[in-house]
Amino acid sequence: MSVRRLHPEQPESFAFTEENAAYLQKVIARYPEGRQASAVIPALMVAQSQEGWISRPAIETVAKLLDMPDIRVLEVATFYTQFQLSPVGRKAHIQVCGTTPCRLRGAEEIISICKNRLAAHPFELSADGDFSWEEVECSGACVNAPVVTVGQDTYEDLTAETFNALIDGLTSGNPPAPGPQNGRFFSAPQGGDTALTDGSLYDGSVVGKYRAFDREELAPPSAAPTPAAPPPVAAAKPADEKPVPKAVEAQGQADGEKVPDQHKPELLDAAREDKADDLKLIYGVGPKLEELLHKLGVYHFDQIAGWSEMNLRWIDQHLGSFRGRAFRDKWIEQSSKLATGWRPSNKDGDKPV
Ligand code: FES
Repeated sequence: MSVRRLHPEQPESFAFTEENAAYLQKVIARYPEGRQASAVIPALMVAQSQEGWISRPAIETVAKLLDMPDIRVLEVATFYTQFQLSPVGRKAHIQVCGTTPCRLRGAEEIISICKNRLAAHPFELSADGDFSWEEVECSGACVNAPVVTVGQDTYEDLTAETFNALIDGLTSGNPPAPGPQNGRFFSAPQGGDTALTDGSLYDGSVVGKYRAFDREELAPPSAAPTPAAPPPVAAAKPADEKPVPKAVEAQGQADGEKVPDQHKPELLDAAREDKADDLKLIYGVGPKLEELLHKLGVYHFDQIAGWSEMNLRWIDQHLGSFRGRAFRDKWIEQSSKLATGWRPSNKDGDKPV
């Protein structure tokens, strides 16, 4: 942070023009009685736009106008680098952004031109007194680097050629339009759009489509971790010998050691009262897995909540390419919570366990 002091040579006096004084009265009226000091920055900005820089008499005039001690206004003027504390060029004071993105995109060359065409050092007046320049920190338009600011305008996407043209324009009183100097529209891609060009992204036709994604389709089945083998259960209660659908049984047998049917949990022919629970509320269960569970005879959270680990193993071996999900996603614990009536507020981010 640089030391900011008032210029050693100061004018005798300062007075707002009639027009600026009238404008400032309106600004001051925006604040409650006794809070006129809140207008200190606008008042200093008006003083700077009138004279080009902030002098000691200007600070004293603002302090008097706002009923503030001089030192309070001086503190503001010396704190904010937007206020120039020494005389600047009559036609323009050029602020060159010298922060990394602008440096990488040619700010060095812009600064060289300032040194060669305007003045050797920052804040120094050009020989004719028309120009001065300084290097500033990020001007907030990095995507259009390199950037210079003149008054309230920014000139962006500069090259040596376009920056020289800007100086020529300011000299002749006919500067180019502010903004990108390479023809692009604001910060839109140069040469046209290259991404997100699918019109259907904007016509509303895909809104909410992501919900159609089936979780189990997001990752290949092979990505599912191999479940740790649960400890053997000494005395599992035999369940009803309900036949397993042929296709499902074939899948289970192909997956390795078969869990005996004595560990088959109680399964249903149909949902109780013809109303199945929404098993997709179990994190990790999508429409396909729910359909498979229905085929097996699983329709309700309380069914799963009542399973033993061996029951879960029996079911798991009939889940085909989804094997491992039941253990990984803790179906018994999830279903125990869902069976109490708990529901996720957001299915994608609010898991039962
Ligand atoms: S770095 Fe220059 S505008 Fe941000």
